[in-house]
Amino acid sequence: MIDGNLIKNDFPILSRKFHGKELVYLDSAATSQKPRSVIDSISDYYENHNANVHRGIYRLSEEGTELYEKSRKNVADFVSADAREIVYVRNTTEGLNLLAYSLGKKLSHGDTVLLTEMEHHSNMVPWQFLRDKGVRIEYVKMKEDFTLDMEDYAEKLKMRPKIVSVTQSSNVVGTINPIKEMVPMAHEVNAAFIVDGAQSVPHMPVSFSGLDCDFLVFSGHKMLGPMGIGCVVGKLEELRAMDPFLGGGDMIREVSYDRATWNDVPYKFEAGTQNVAGSIGLSAAVDYLRNLGMNNVREHELLLIRETSRRMGEIEDLEFFGPADPGIRGGVFSFNLGSVPAFKLERDLKSGNLVVSRGVHPHDVAASLDMHGIAVRSGHHCAMPLMGRMDVAATTRASYYVYNTVEDVNKLFIALNDVKREFAR
Ligand SMILES: Cc1ncc(COP(=O)(O)O)c(C=O)c1O
Repeated sequence: MIDGNLIKNDFPILSRKFHGKELVYLDSAATSQKPRSVIDSISDYYENHNANVHRGIYRLSEEGTELYEKSRKNVADFVSADAREIVYVRNTTEGLNLLAYSLGKKLSHGDTVLLTEMEHHSNMVPWQFLRDKGVRIEYVKMKEDFTLDMEDYAEKLKMRPKIVSVTQSSNVVGTINPIKEMVPMAHEVNAAFIVDGAQSVPHMPVSFSGLDCDFLVFSGHKMLGPMGIGCVVGKLEELRAMDPFLGGGDMIREVSYDRATWNDVPYKFEAGTQNVAGSIGLSAAVDYLRNLGMNNVREHELLLIRETSRRMGEIEDLEFFGPADPGIRGGVFSFNLGSVPAFKLERDLKSGNLVVSRGVHPHDVAASLDMHGIAVRSGHHCAMPLMGRMDVAATTRASYYVYNTVEDVNKLFIALNDVKREFAR
């Protein structure tokens, strides 16, 4: 069992006050806060061990290299992968761009990449770059209950896509997708399977080898680690068969004025000076999460999601976007206040005139919650096509993590009742 109140003490930022109120941070899907151990590990690196890695043969540089490679091994163990399968990148977005570039080089006119309607822009735009060479992009439908339409998935696989890339947990509607079921179906048609783990690796046990996917991508900053470090985990044979993404620095074996040959994996994909301090911070974050236990992390978030579901009915006119079953939902709570569809022009049934619908705009909800010391996200959550699919312009999103408590959920609902009253005036 996780005690969110005890955990809060490990996070210096959570003792800050805003508008005279203690900060209730409910935006961990955007980025998580950092525990003292992560912050200290980064200071320690710069105070005692900083030198460029894989280059110097003096002791200090070797120390930096040892810490960098130790962090890789630690992160690999955390997601049940081999250390050589861990490529450090800046974040999920860069990881997906790397894959779209390097795997995309092998695609030709008429080939298909299969995504889903609930992807983040980071898992759409890099693939859209391939449209220039005639690659087709197809999307698996999301059903009205916010789960993936598995019949549509089976149908679209008949197009024999070369690549399937799917989020394991949606950052907007929270749906946890059945990746374990989806991977063998994709492999049946010889498609490579990519898991966007930005919202799953921080929140639940995720095993790269257990999922048997070809690639898994995630960001350190969403899992208590620092910004600017993330991972592409790839099967060794796949990484070996791919061309590098960026050129220069330590990614080469030999360079002449005309050409170059590539280093072994994972170094082939790590061009230029790396974010060594970031990797050490990520390793400290992994230690922190491992100490809590990822099953406990998931259990704790489930408790908060269930409490949220229980309280939702208190607010008349709250429209919730996500699966009803908390068992298949991550710790995100997307909603709108007001009638559906919110903040759009609609036709008044009596007069026939176009009128602005009555919903409170999510930015107004978020600004009002801020006055209560509560930090939530509002907007399209980098998922504009999904907003269109749900027929709204935006939503308000509260997202939970290990340092949140039932009391935080309580404060959110008290504040939401106030917001409703404010806007009803
Ligand atoms: C599902 C999903 N994929 C990708 C990303 C992009 O992550 P980053 O901004 O760390 O690259 C996010 C960020 O919110 C996300 O939620």
